[in-house]
Order: sequence, then C-alpha cells, then structure tokens
Amino acid sequence: MKITLDFIRLRHVTKTYPKTKETEEVTALDNISLRIPEGHLAAVVGESGSGKTTLLNLLGGLDRPDSGAVIVNGEDLAELGERELVRFRASRVGFVIQTYYLLPALTAWENVELAMEPNRVPSSERRERARELLKSVGLESRLNHLPGQLSGGEQQRVAIARALANRPILLLADEPTGNLDKKNRYAVLELFLRLARENKITMVVVTHDSRVSERCDLEYSLKNGKLRPTNRTSKKLAEMQAEASRSRDMAAANAQPLARPEPVPDGYESCDREEPTKGDIMP
Ligand SMILES: Nc1ncnc2c1ncn2[C@@H]1O[C@H](COP(=O)(O)OP(=O)(O)OP(=O)(O)O)[C@@H](O)[C@H]1O
Ligand SMILES: [Mg+2]
Repeated sequence: MKITLDFIRLRHVTKTYPKTKETEEVTALDNISLRIPEGHLAAVVGESGSGKTTLLNLLGGLDRPDSGAVIVNGEDLAELGERELVRFRASRVGFVIQTYYLLPALTAWENVELAMEPNRVPSSERRERARELLKSVGLESRLNHLPGQLSGGEQQRVAIARALANRPILLLADEPTGNLDKKNRYAVLELFLRLARENKITMVVVTHDSRVSERCDLEYSLKNGKLRPTNRTSKKLAEMQAEASRSRDMAAANAQPLARPEPVPDGYESCDREEPTKGDIMP
C-alpha cells in the first residue's frame, strides 16, 4: 500500500503568545520540525504547559504559527483563507479536546449525530453511523444517556466517537485516554490503531501516559518548546525514508524505455504473446 510519508510536515514552526498587560510572553513552540506518515499513530508526550495543545491547535488549523510552515496532506495551512480553514476542519479533521464539550441536553447518540449535520450526511445514515461508532467505543448500551448520566470515561468515549463521525483523514486527540481504566484505554488504542491501518487515518495523540505512547507507531517529546522524536521513532522514520527511496529507484528503473525489438525477418511468424482470454489467471 502506497502511503504519503509527509502527510503531516512541520517546518521550523514557532508559536509565541504575546505579552499582555496581565501576562508575560510565552514561547510555546520554538522552531520545531516534524513529519508524520499517513496512516500512522503518533504520540506527543510532555509536561503540563510544554505546548502540546498549542501544537494540536496548529495542526488542526485552529491557530496559526508566527513563523514556519504547517503542511497537512500537501496543503500549506498558511495559504488557506478563514473559510477554507473552516471547511478543512469540518471535513478533514476530528478533534478530541481536553474538555469534551458534549451538549448536555442531547443524548450520546444525538451528540455524535449532530457532528455530521454540517456535512449534510442524510439523517438515516447519520443515525446508523453514530450507533456504529458508539458501539466501537463500547457504548452501545448507553446510546440514550445524557452526558450528565454518563461517567467521565464514558463522556470521553462519546467525544472520540463524535471526532470520528465525519470520517476525518486526520484525528487530533488531547489526552483521549486520560479518564479511562485499563480495559477501555487499550480498547480505544486498539480502535485508533485499527482505524489508522484500515482507513489510513493519521493520528496525533497527546498523552502523559507512557503505556499509551509506547504502543503508538511514533513518539515525540515536547520540552521547553522543543520537540524531539525518540530514538525508536528516528530509526523508524529513517527506515521508511530508505524504503521509499528504494521503491522510487525501482519504479524509475522499470520506467526505462524498452530496447527496440529486432525487425522480424521475412518468412517468420510474429511470436507476440496473445491477450489472455476471459478466465485466464494473470501472472
Ligand atoms: N492563549 C494563551 N495566552 C497566553 N499563554 C498561553 C495561551 N495558551 C497557552 N499559553 C501558555 O503556553 C504554554 C503551552 O500551553 P499548552 O496549552 O500548549 O500546554 P500543554 O502542554 O497542552 O499543557 P497541559 O498538559 O497542561 O494541557 C503554557 O505555558 C501556557 O500557559
Ligand atoms: Mg493541553
């Protein structure tokens, strides 16, 4: 399966919150670069205040950097106007934010369904897809509960189902397993890994939990505004890069024009291969 190596590409990104009358200037991200291949699950680990949410906001087009480029699926977000950014977020990105913002007067089912309304998904499909998603996070028996009738971890899982409702190509999740017990933590991780593999969804998950980050395909740590891949991640990215160059070289070699065939001397039959007939097994 062909994948885009630079599905997410950050180049020398800096984000500073300026000084105000009440607050000092904060450099949340300091000249960071990052690449995440398509269909991979990347973890970002870092202490409180290290810039993790700031990073997700830039990746999802919720905020813009002071300098540097944020490229998602070949699109430089700096070149999108406000309306295009809104469309990008609504149709391409799923967010699981730290505070879930479920609407209190709507059931779990309705909260997930509602997310699909702006993208004009027909109502019967919305209902069925919402049920399937809630089932996949283990909430089939809580469809008609209001958020106030759900535990913290259950609300978190409704928020995950909602983030997946519009079949995003990018899922950004801020501590998506923070409130979950071991069983549900692993169930959500397995769901993420499956969606990354099968649906080629690229995911960035912020976590404090090393048991979560270790299971992700790639791991980055953020400290004092600097982002670094772990050794395992650098190695894996280098291997993927080498594999991609090998495939490119092979494709280039195969694309060389074939030598001109010798002219068939008079009196000899042409021995061109026949087209296979229906039912033949192609090599
Ligand atoms: N709107 C803002 N104005 C000024 N400073 C901000 C703003 N938002 C965040 N910061 C500061 O930027 C730094 C990074 O914040 P961010 O929310 O990205 O951290 P985080 O790693 O997500 O932390 P946590 O794990 O606690 O959620 C923090 O020191 C924070 O105080
Ligand atoms: Mg945060």
